[in-house]
Amino acid sequence: MEHRSETSGAIQILPGFVDLHVHFRDPGFSFKETIASGCAAARAGGYAAVCAMPNLNPPPDTLAHLQPQLDLIARDAGAGTTAVPVGAITRGRRGEGELSDMEALAPYVCGFSDDGTGIADGSLMRRAMERAAALQKPIISHCEEKSLLNGGYIHDGAYARAHGHRGICGASEWLPLARDLELARQTGCEYHVCHVSAKESVTLIRQAKQSGVRVTAETAPHYLLLADEDLEEDGRFKMNPPLRAKEDRAALLAGLADGTIDCVATDHAPHTREEKSKGLAGSAFGIVGLETAFPLLYTYLVKPGKLTLETLLTRMAHTPRRLLETWTGRAFPGEYGWDLHARWVIDPDKFCSKGRATPFAGWEVWGQVQPKNRDERRTP
Ligand code: DOR
Repeated sequence: MEHRSETSGAIQILPGFVDLHVHFRDPGFSFKETIASGCAAARAGGYAAVCAMPNLNPPPDTLAHLQPQLDLIARDAGAGTTAVPVGAITRGRRGEGELSDMEALAPYVCGFSDDGTGIADGSLMRRAMERAAALQKPIISHCEEKSLLNGGYIHDGAYARAHGHRGICGASEWLPLARDLELARQTGCEYHVCHVSAKESVTLIRQAKQSGVRVTAETAPHYLLLADEDLEEDGRFKMNPPLRAKEDRAALLAGLADGTIDCVATDHAPHTREEKSKGLAGSAFGIVGLETAFPLLYTYLVKPGKLTLETLLTRMAHTPRRLLETWTGRAFPGEYGWDLHARWVIDPDKFCSKGRATPFAGWEVWGQVQPKNRDERRTP
C-alpha cells in the first residue's frame, strides 16, 4: 500500500512531500531566498525533496552555469530536504533562441523548463521535446502565450472589471498547452504542465491522458482554495498564472480528485517585502507556499470532506516522488511526524522562508510538523 501512516498519540507519521515546483533564487537572487532558507521552509512544511526552477542568475543552461547551483545545494541544503535543479530549456531561459546544453545538463537535472517564460515558437518547443525525449527527461512547461497577456496581472474576470484592473485570460494558458500536448503526442516526450489554473486546461489534460499522451500536471493550493472574488488590493494576492474564477477552482478540484491533476506543487516564489508592497498592478508575481501547503489543504479540503487524506497524500507525496524518482533515477525517501490536532494561525513573520507574501496570512489551519522534524528528516 502506498500510504504508510501510523499514529503514536496525537502524532501521525506522514510521507515526506515532494514539490516539483519551487523557486530558491540561489544563485543570483539570494536576497529573496537562499538554498538554506528555502530548504528550512521545505522542512517546516514536511517536504523530503523539491525541484528548484531555473530562473536564476546564471540560469542553468550549460554545465558551467549549473555548477554554482549544484555547489550551493551541496553546501547549504542541510539534512532532511533534497533540492534538485531543473535545467533551462533555452540559453538564458529566454523562451526563444537556442536550446540549452541539454545533453550536458541531463545527468544533474530532473527535467527542463523555462519557468516564468513561455515558449512562443512551436518549432523550438518541438526540438526541445525531441531532445528531452532522447534524454528521457520531461519538459516541465510554463504555458503562457505572451501575445494574450494584454498587460494583465490578475484574472480577466469580474474582479478585474469591477476594479479597473488589466486581466490575463485563461486562453493565454490553455492555447499553448493545446499546442504542446499535440507536440508531446508526436514526439513521445514526457510533458509536465506547471501551475494549472484554468478549467479548459483541465479538460485538455484529461483528454490528452485518455488518448495516451505522456502528460502529467500540477496545480497549487492557492488555485484550489481561492478565486478572483477573494482578491484584495494587495501584492500578496498576485501570482502568475493568476487566481481565476470559481468555475476554474471547481474544475481543478475535480481534476485533483480524479487524477487528471497528478500533483500539488507550491510554486513557492519568494520576493522581498518591497517587491510585494506595490499592490496588484505593481508588485512582483509570486507567493510563498512551502510552509502552509499541507495544513491548508488538510484543513480546507480534507477536513470538510472534499478530498480524502489518502488522495491528498498521493498528490503531495507518492505521485510527485514517483515522478521525480523516474526522472532522476534517484530515491527520495523520508517521512515527518505531524500533529494533525495542532491548530495554528498562519503568521508570515514566523516563516523560515525569506518570503512573507501569502494570501493565507491570518488563516487558521490544522496540522503542524513536529519541531524535532523541522531540522531533521526522519528516514524509514
Ligand atoms: O508567480 C510566479 N512567480 N509565477 C511564475 O511563473 C514565476 C514565479 C517567480 O519566479 O517569481
